[in-house]
Amino acid sequence: MAAILVLLVLAAFLVMNCESISRADFPDGFTFGTASSAYQGLSMKEIKETAYGYLYQKTRWNWGTKSGRDRILQQSDRLFARKRYQPYATLYHWDLPQILEDKYGGLLSNQVVKDFENYAYICFEAFGDRVKHWMTFNEPHGIAIQGYDLGVQAPGRCSILGHLICKAGKSSVEPYIVAHNILLSHAAAYRTYQNHFKERQQGQVGIALDAKWYEPISNADEDVDAAGRAMDFGLGWFLDPLLLGHYPLSMQKLVAERLPEITPETSRLLKGSLDFVGINHYTTLYARNDRTRFRKFILQDASSDSATIKNVSTYDVPYSQAASSWLHIVPWGIRKLANYIKDKYGNPPVIITENGMDDPNRSHLALAKALHDDKRINYHRGYLSNLSAAIRSTETLSYAKLTECRQDKCDIRGYFVWSLLDNWEWNMGYTVRFGLYYVDYKNNLTRIPKSSVNWFRNMLTLSKNTRVFNGNKVLPEYRPHLYICTIQQNALCDSKFI
Ligand SMILES: *[C@@H]1O[C@H](CO)[C@@H](O)[C@H](O)[C@H]1NC(C)=O
Ligand SMILES: *[C@@H]1O[C@H](CO)[C@@H](O)[C@H](O)[C@H]1NC(C)=O
Ligand SMILES: *[C@@H]1O[C@H](CO)[C@@H](O)[C@H](O)[C@H]1NC(C)=O
Ligand SMILES: *[C@@H]1O[C@H](CO)[C@@H](O)[C@H](O)[C@H]1NC(C)=O
Repeated sequence: MAAILVLLVLAAFLVMNCESISRADFPDGFTFGTASSAYQGLSMKEIKETAYGYLYQKTRWNWGTKSGRDRILQQSDRLFARKRYQPYATLYHWDLPQILEDKYGGLLSNQVVKDFENYAYICFEAFGDRVKHWMTFNEPHGIAIQGYDLGVQAPGRCSILGHLICKAGKSSVEPYIVAHNILLSHAAAYRTYQNHFKERQQGQVGIALDAKWYEPISNADEDVDAAGRAMDFGLGWFLDPLLLGHYPLSMQKLVAERLPEITPETSRLLKGSLDFVGINHYTTLYARNDRTRFRKFILQDASSDSATIKNVSTYDVPYSQAASSWLHIVPWGIRKLANYIKDKYGNPPVIITENGMDDPNRSHLALAKALHDDKRINYHRGYLSNLSAAIRSTETLSYAKLTECRQDKCDIRGYFVWSLLDNWEWNMGYTVRFGLYYVDYKNNLTRIPKSSVNWFRNMLTLSKNTRVFNGNKVLPEYRPHLYICTIQQNALCDSKFI
């Protein structure tokens, strides 16, 4: 009995060790940062205050106009001169110049490819000495589906429900054209960098793809296939052309003549046009086969082409949910996604360019409570420990196997939190809060660090306290935290070890 007790205590101790997470759980050279976007609320001032050495700035710089360029240059010079911060810049973050929309229909036209290439050239030339990581497009899947199928985001085109919500558009066709033009624009920018800047600037060019993980709801073949199709129509839509040179076979079959053709020449242009894969990952859904195809019949759109039904599962009770109804908290999903990318695409370098969750903006909630974002801390702890496992597995967590340290060996190079600040969340506006920093909208937009800022700061510096376990396994020391937030002038959160 005593022996069992000792073992149990030991087991609990080990589990505790592994649930805590620190810088030491990630390889040397792994990048941590926060993501934000100028349009959604960032000013350069806040960046100074972050717990991070890295910054991922989604710019809004007018496609290379001189005034926009000069302004960014001034700001970035001040900021990045200090070397502590490294910019990861996104060229296109939902900000097509209106003039191109008016002139030729923006992303619907092949003319955008040349314009985007020129714009990228100007940015590489102006900022490439400081920016060494570029993302060409942010969330192309979202652009195509939200903007041209469901019509709920710019430019608000769709044909679903008999044009009830949009004046113009064709939901079964336009998303595919737009996606194709984005792929071509990306590849053109990538080749331009290779041809004119790579040698001199030694930077990397990638893309930030929004990717959910789809888990089959059962082991039945039809559901496993459905989950595979859901992945094809999400991540594969973009990553297959960029890494394999063609659209996924399931898309070729189901979309057929509506899918733009990738000629052998185009295939050569697209294939391999990535130095790293940026992944914006937030959530996981279960997928099952849509036998009736009723949804397809009703919607006649791109999002129902995959013939899958995607949902949360009642198996995962209680599943946890963020403020946004689409954001289910499923930390294990990131590890499955990482392994999927490794296995399907030959382990390309991946950077998690966005990961995070939102709390509701409750105006009656006391500030002290709103700053106490334990749910966010748990979210990041869960996602980061699963990400760490994807790189360096701790799955076999029995005492006997602890030192064995089996590895998934996914080539993940970085992790960026969405977001630095509470932000304008598109259609949700200011009703939800994604930030590590709280923005007081009623009080001069004062920025106040939430508990999660402290958690990250400690997590990233805890490596100093690592210790050797069992002679050869380095584990971070487990130190539970008590978060004490006092609201004073500067309202800095204080954290104490207990
Ligand atoms: C999704 O799941 C919820 C709860 O499990 C259920 O109420 C809902 O009907 C499901 N939706 C679909 C489309 O299956
Ligand atoms: C991964 O996340 C799940 C929750 O989704 C958690 O139970 C599990 O312990 C995590 N695994 C690792 C290796 O951290
Ligand atoms: C968000 O919260 C603030 C309090 O900080 C409140 O004034 C504002 O009305 C809320 N906004 C929305 C859109 O709910
Ligand atoms: C808000 O900022 C402006 C400009 O810096 C300042 O004049 C004003 O007094 C501030 N208001 C509050 C409530 O702090």
